[in-house]
Amino acid sequence: MESYKEIFENNRLWIADKTKNDKDFFEELSKGQNPDFLFIGCSDSRVTAEELMGAGPGHVFVHRNIANLVPNNDNNSASVIEYAVKHLGVKHVIVCGHYFCGGVKAAMQSEDLGVLNPWLRNIRDVYRLHKDELNAITDETHRYKRLVELNVQEQCVNVIKMAVWQKTFLATGYPIVHGLVFDVQSGKLIDLDIDFNKELEFIREIYDLGTNK
Ligand code: CO
Repeated sequence: MESYKEIFENNRLWIADKTKNDKDFFEELSKGQNPDFLFIGCSDSRVTAEELMGAGPGHVFVHRNIANLVPNNDNNSASVIEYAVKHLGVKHVIVCGHYFCGGVKAAMQSEDLGVLNPWLRNIRDVYRLHKDELNAITDETHRYKRLVELNVQEQCVNVIKMAVWQKTFLATGYPIVHGLVFDVQSGKLIDLDIDFNKELEFIREIYDLGTNK
């Protein structure tokens, strides 16, 4: 993508492609959405939510921000999750981090980044929670990759702390929360297979909102 004008030429080609074998494609799309997935990913231009999963229009509700965070007091991600879980009834919530994440890298460095500081502090908090494990990793690249994974894990925990998730999950068994990492170097999507039963025990002990009463 080199020029701004290219966007519109590509859009024309995209419409032609979508309607080639299905002339009512956009007419059908206009009737509503019923996605099975909520994808929470990084804003990084290399992490193309739908494209890397082979998903088309209407399949995925998407939220992206720097370093795929779900901060406790962030009304933006909270609204997206509330809407996706309660109103769209998504079956899966995917929190997708990625190796070589600039946001995670920045949180590992001693640098004042102004308005980004409080946002990145969420990642520093993840580091603090897992300091012993992370400090034991001597190779910096491995430590960086592990922080990306642990950040995904903690953001998944932030999702399951929410009342809307607890209520819906207890009533229906959905949505299932998944922690994934996109490896930019290989293009692979890796499931971290986070043990949420273990996490849930912890959640019930500390973050129980009485949603099962
Ligand atoms: Co990133």
